[in-house]
Amino acid sequence: PRILVLASGSGTNLQALIEASRERDFPGQIVAVGCNQPGAFALERAAQANIESFVVNHKDFGSREEFDASLMAEILRHNPDLIVLAGFMRILTTDFVRAFRGRMLNIHPSLLPKYTGLNTHRRALEAGDRVHGVSIHFVTEELDGGPVIAQAEVSVSQDETPESLAEKVQAEEHILYPIVVRWFCEGRIQLGSEGVLFDGQPL
Ligand code: GRF
Repeated sequence: PRILVLASGSGTNLQALIEASRERDFPGQIVAVGCNQPGAFALERAAQANIESFVVNHKDFGSREEFDASLMAEILRHNPDLIVLAGFMRILTTDFVRAFRGRMLNIHPSLLPKYTGLNTHRRALEAGDRVHGVSIHFVTEELDGGPVIAQAEVSVSQDETPESLAEKVQAEEHILYPIVVRWFCEGRIQLGSEGVLFDGQPL
């Protein structure tokens, strides 16, 4: 399968996927990296790995619809089977999300359904949670609300800060995302009408 990664920032998850995709038996290929931030380090990572990249800067467009149409056109040039959102910080329109239903994954730094949106680490700390983590889910129209495929937990220690917690969660992200992308490429996970199917069985 052809994988296209969308990122906005430093791209550490992209890096984890690049490294996984170099394993001899990896069942997919990262064909392109798309980015909405011209200076993002994710672009540098793509270049270093000899992966094609493109920028669609949201600031060049007057509306979300126009931005998404342009992003869609760039994506379609690469004919991907899977779109992986890896720290992609733009909300996509309903039409865009529907066009890639069952073929788009997102990583979110909380144990969904807890803490959709931003500042998840700080919110988990403020709530006094003893356990926090990361979720990978299929993207649907609902922001951070699509069916969850896999989660990894971290324990929150007494002296935890949002920064230390982010670091712990990110270490888990870099392990979990390549595993889930591999499952997708092997045809093991699908988005059914009722939710995620793993090896054909509801999760
Ligand atoms: C990750 O923490 C991810 O969960 C969130 O954005 C961050 C992206 O980091 N959605 P990176 O660009 O992969 O380093």
